[in-house]
Amino acid sequence: MAAAALSATKGRLLNAMAHQAPVMPAALDVNTLAQFVDPLPVPKIAQHQGFRTSPGDAKIRVPFYRIQAQAITSQVHRDLKPTRLWSFGPSAPGPTFETRAGEPLLVEWVNALPQEHFLPIDQTIHGAEADKPTVRTVVHLHGAKTRPESDGYPEDWVVPGKSSLYYYPNEQDATMLWYHDHALGINRLNVYAGLLGAFFIRDDIEDALNLPKGKYELPLIIYDRLLTRDGQLLYPISTIPESPWVSEVFGNAILVNGKLFPYQEVEPRRYRLRVLNGSNARTYHLAFGNAAPFHQIGTDQGLLAAPVPTTQIEIAPGERADLVIDFSEHRGAQLVLKSDAFTVMQFRVSPEKVTETSSLPGTLRPVPKIPESQAVQTRLLTLDEYVNKAGNPTMLLLNASHWKMPITEKPVLGSTEIWTLINPTNDTHPIHLHLVRFQILDRRSYEPWLFQSRRQLHFIGPPQPPDPGEAGWKDTVRAYSRMVTRIIVPFTGFTGRYVWHCHILEHEDNEMMRPYEVIAAAG
Ligand code: C2O
Ligand code: CU
Ligand code: CU
Repeated sequence: MAAAALSATKGRLLNAMAHQAPVMPAALDVNTLAQFVDPLPVPKIAQHQGFRTSPGDAKIRVPFYRIQAQAITSQVHRDLKPTRLWSFGPSAPGPTFETRAGEPLLVEWVNALPQEHFLPIDQTIHGAEADKPTVRTVVHLHGAKTRPESDGYPEDWVVPGKSSLYYYPNEQDATMLWYHDHALGINRLNVYAGLLGAFFIRDDIEDALNLPKGKYELPLIIYDRLLTRDGQLLYPISTIPESPWVSEVFGNAILVNGKLFPYQEVEPRRYRLRVLNGSNARTYHLAFGNAAPFHQIGTDQGLLAAPVPTTQIEIAPGERADLVIDFSEHRGAQLVLKSDAFTVMQFRVSPEKVTETSSLPGTLRPVPKIPESQAVQTRLLTLDEYVNKAGNPTMLLLNASHWKMPITEKPVLGSTEIWTLINPTNDTHPIHLHLVRFQILDRRSYEPWLFQSRRQLHFIGPPQPPDPGEAGWKDTVRAYSRMVTRIIVPFTGFTGRYVWHCHILEHEDNEMMRPYEVIAAAG
């Protein structure tokens, strides 16, 4: 309660005491907490509330879900006070959707949040100005092929007491999608508060593989948060009271399915781990403490052609990784999942032998490579960062364009394009396109200064193919610093206005996001 009040006060202070440096509550030293005292929670499966007529076809009845964004408290660790959060339903992450390819569903996303935000809004950011309600939410299903009116356009937010009815056709391959808030200018705060959840699509091709399922398949929704000693969320602000936005937020606590340092008891057999990086800014390098080998079997948009043996994966905000680990070689052992120097969670493998019933086939699902010759258009798109005199970032743009500027990317429905992402900045930007799935062609070092001054692309290294774990269908790609990253994108599905953006949410909010429009082929 004290910290909650403190956060609210902090928000008000920003406006009232613009001349004084804001006081931030002390951060928790997570190393003082006992590790592996809380079991890993698994979000509940979303339950529908009956059936409703499909908006596309009056003869079809589809499952109808009602999901409410609301304020909750939740204990992220045994020895911490309950944390004030916002979530879809009674827990954060929200309920997990389970559906099958070609089985549509309807969701009424209800905004039942309080009237005031509890995290610091920066009113100098586009879309978050003083004339906007502070509490706004709109839900996007990341990786889904949906019509624009159900895609969660950042300006389609609703205020508390209102809702939106979204239709998801689910006509796409089996994979892990995720839903999260996408409200213009405060997306980073709403997701940080806890407004996210997982959404699985299954299909017959996946079923036929006999991969680990049921209790042998676990979602691992990973995100970091900065916690106060009181166990409350701390969203940092800059030292400039008039513009509290900071360019990235990195937490001291890495949560898995909403818990800090959880443990999971497992049998000595294969498990399928469905990993989502739901962090605002942090990229993870996930590995087991003893460098235990595992396989990556899928990426953002579904299964890879074949399992990739590995001991570590890199996963940036927005990306998903589908992993299979065989614990049979670790009977009776305790395996810690780590990311760089951070401890993420622990797996406790029981000592008794069990019978394996699942498989890990040598081939999974064909991923036909799109030939470059199929592209009808190549777009050079820059990722730009602007800094002030002190060298601190003040804003980021795509192709030097603001959100409000006219739409410049208008691919034709059914056509394929190459998007060449040119990154002169010192950061990796995970770039995400709504509606579509794509393949990574290559990444290549280039001379940023020559491009800046003469718009000449001068390469200073050989093209690097995607990592084996990225050589499938993607919807988010890591555009590395001082490299040119090329993706090939078939624009299929629907016409209309969508967005593409950096998935570092601080970047996206300020203003590394642009609309794009899929247009109909000229008749
Ligand atoms: Cu994960 Cu535009 O979204
Ligand atoms: Cu998306
Ligand atoms: Cu970025």
